[in-house]
Amino acid sequence: MNLLDSLIERAKANKQRIVLPEGTERRTLAAADRLLRDGVAEIILLGDPAVIPELAKESELSNIEKARIIDPKTHDKKEAYTRLLAELRKKKGLTYEQASRLVEDPLYLACLMICAGDADGEIAGAANTTGDVLRPALQIIKTSPGVKVVSGAFLMFTQTRQYGEDGILLFADCAVMPDPAPTELASIAIASAQTMRSLAGVEPRVAMLSFSTKGSAEHEMIDKVREATRIAKEIDPELQIDGELQADAALVPSVGAGKAPGSPIAGRANVLIFPTLEAGNIAYKLVQRLGNAQATGPVLQGMAAPVNDLSRGCSTEDIYNMAAITANQAIGLKRNK
Ligand code: ACO
Repeated sequence: MNLLDSLIERAKANKQRIVLPEGTERRTLAAADRLLRDGVAEIILLGDPAVIPELAKESELSNIEKARIIDPKTHDKKEAYTRLLAELRKKKGLTYEQASRLVEDPLYLACLMICAGDADGEIAGAANTTGDVLRPALQIIKTSPGVKVVSGAFLMFTQTRQYGEDGILLFADCAVMPDPAPTELASIAIASAQTMRSLAGVEPRVAMLSFSTKGSAEHEMIDKVREATRIAKEIDPELQIDGELQADAALVPSVGAGKAPGSPIAGRANVLIFPTLEAGNIAYKLVQRLGNAQATGPVLQGMAAPVNDLSRGCSTEDIYNMAAITANQAIGLKRNK
């Protein structure tokens, strides 16, 4: 069984409540229909209860009737969520009146439902930008204890089975932090190792990427990666991590042996940490398009509860797979608690 199939099976065995704020978006509805048909999750759709069934009928989606539909403007917990939001953002100067307007925004409502224990995870982004999906999550759900930053990882299912873990690699950060400081980059590396372990079930071997391998060049951008590697090792001495490494030294055994002899992971890395968002975002899209890899993500890591973003170019299948991943993150979080 491949990795995604096993994540889907794990989700079916322990159904989580996944809230989809873009309840009238067609790919989202089609994915919700398949998720309900296959019993992967309980689905909560946010949107107009008069419109959603009509859209489902037009697209012949017969399982949508099993979803819970909540109208952000009129539902009966609106006041309770308004109070919760006003309380959470009191220190930031948010008034009750401002909160009462924000709770009508499905992206805010979804996060408040998770915060109140009424849902286990969220997926959005088929119709909204990453920033719009992330901002309420960062403000309401926040990072898990001990985690400095939220970042976005992609599980890359490549055709090159000689690299990574039988062709599977985790790339991060590809979605959130434009220019992480060394402590933040170290935090991204540790969170990514945890994501690899919990989703793929394999021991992470983390490469801190740069344009230099072990002193082959000097630049302040390389210093940042060296410092982040040092901090990550200090925080988690057991973690198999090394840097700074170029991508070929990280992936190819002969290059790794030549450029970074004695490295614990050179030539066999399965987690690639990029020094900036520019590098990570460009890299995953190039590998996806030119290398014909399946890119699943961004899986947001470091959040106190699972919220996942989608690319606006996503397919119904991407949303379906992301729901399985979100459910697995929720299961993992509950287990750890
Ligand atoms: N981790 C944890 N908390 C964070 C992070 C982070 N990475 N970034 C911001 N926050 C917190 C802040 O501390 C703040 O909390 P507070 O209000 O309680 O004090 C809150 O989030 C809002 O912070 P702002 O700085 O006001 O938020 P900003 O408007 O800068 O938005 C965002 C943050 C949305 C993550 C921004 O950094 C961003 O847009 N990043 C790039 C996203 C993107 O475009 N990615 C590429 C496309 S994704 C793709 O291709 C798949």
